[in-house]
Amino acid sequence: MSEQQQARILIAEDEANLRLVLQKELERLGYRVQAAPDGEAALRKLEESNVDVLLCDINMPRMDGMELLRRVYQRPNPPEVIMLTGQATVETAVEAMKLGAYDYLTKPYSITELDVRVKQAADKRKLRVDNVRLREQLARQSALPEIVSVSELMKEAIRLIERVAPSEASVLITGESGTGKELVAHAIHRLSSRAEASFVDLNCAAFQESLLESELFGYEAGAFSGAKGRKLGLIELADGGTLFLDEVTELPAQLQAKLLRAIETRTFFRVGGVRKVEVNVRIVAATNRNLDTVVNDGVFRSDLLYRINGFQISLAPLRERPEDIEPLARYLLKNIAGTHPPELTDEAFTALRAYTWPGNVRQLKNCLERAVILSNNGRITLSELPPEVTRPVVAVPVQQGVAPAVNGEALVPAAASSAPGSLREVERQQILAALEQTGWHRGKTAEILGISPSTLYRRLRDYDLERRR
Ligand SMILES: Nc1ncnc2c1ncn2[C@@H]1O[C@H](COP(=O)(O)OP(=O)(O)OP(=O)(O)O)[C@@H](O)[C@H]1O
Ligand SMILES: [Mg+2]
Repeated sequence: MSEQQQARILIAEDEANLRLVLQKELERLGYRVQAAPDGEAALRKLEESNVDVLLCDINMPRMDGMELLRRVYQRPNPPEVIMLTGQATVETAVEAMKLGAYDYLTKPYSITELDVRVKQAADKRKLRVDNVRLREQLARQSALPEIVSVSELMKEAIRLIERVAPSEASVLITGESGTGKELVAHAIHRLSSRAEASFVDLNCAAFQESLLESELFGYEAGAFSGAKGRKLGLIELADGGTLFLDEVTELPAQLQAKLLRAIETRTFFRVGGVRKVEVNVRIVAATNRNLDTVVNDGVFRSDLLYRINGFQISLAPLRERPEDIEPLARYLLKNIAGTHPPELTDEAFTALRAYTWPGNVRQLKNCLERAVILSNNGRITLSELPPEVTRPVVAVPVQQGVAPAVNGEALVPAAASSAPGSLREVERQQILAALEQTGWHRGKTAEILGISPSTLYRRLRDYDLERRR
């Protein structure tokens, strides 16, 4: 008995004789067959059992074939439907096909003919079910493949991501530069019901105010000189999907007000536009700034913060989860160099684990990219790691007035020896060391530290390092 002939059939037919004959003949052909005298009874059977093919008469008491068909399609994973029709109802059968029925058969039909159609319909359903199952399997496998998380801190973050992603809540991701905020934003989108729609990202620190506004909201022709035609803004391009506002606290005040209104009313105006545009976006935002500080300083509106901070995921800096360094290094090396990446020596691993990584994962990645290029004989030793990693600046609290020492011999785990209050100082010293190394070239300094130029500029401002040189 072939697989198709195991297919499960439900016959909905009010004429008792015909129903019995059909059932007998189909059973003889090896199908598993149930029968119902009207639409309602058929629907009950469908609730109770899994059916591959529904044979559906059109004229039936209580619930006719068309109504049954509509109800069937409201259910998840419906069977394939073949309409059984008399000459008088052919047009209705065609209508049924438009609604999604697989086929129709006009009475009288031979059992052979019926067998062929049922087989085809069962095959189609099997393909459909297999397809759904494979896609679900694939989605599970590739859900979060690239977020390395060995530490409890990262595992907890992953748990939060998986929980919040399927909801519609806005999410604010906080964490130092290079901790993986953008990666997490992508993951949230991919695990959400909006995954098939677009993920649009905007770096709020990357443009000046006027440009940012037209990037975000678009503009109408003639909105300003040079605006020849209408341009759609990113918020509109993200309709139905996710809008990722990176470095959201850098948004200028006027735009914060506009964004707040757009989120609250789900409508906005294009620049120079008079017509409201409706939009349905989920906001995911990120910042590496301290939220209390930006709100207290009046840099960021608290009402906007409440709106986008429906759910917060904070990513710990790498120095607080050193267990992640080794698996991250292995993962990143594979990504950089393919299936046979150079191997890190034990000393190199020790150095990576001991370093404080002010630029977090991005800095680790940059460091490994450089090391791969420099590596010999498939090995990465201490010599291929940058000096700031192999000779870390030892954190010495400034209030003691002692100049930071550079330790060339032993590897000093600076993070371990530093009190929380001195972390800023560690970072300041790392930045200073990188600045000295590049002759105060800011682009190169940002690169070494693995942070974006805009983050570096902010740090220079924060640490009052701007006026040097
Ligand atoms: N847990 C992780 N597993 C794998 N890769 C990671 C992880 N965290 C970060 N990365 C990688 O590190 C790099 C920096 O991450 P990302 O750009 O997401 O950081 P960010 O927090 O957005 O930084 P910034 O604040 O500077 O924009 C990316 O290449 C990212 O893929
Ligand atoms: Mg980022």
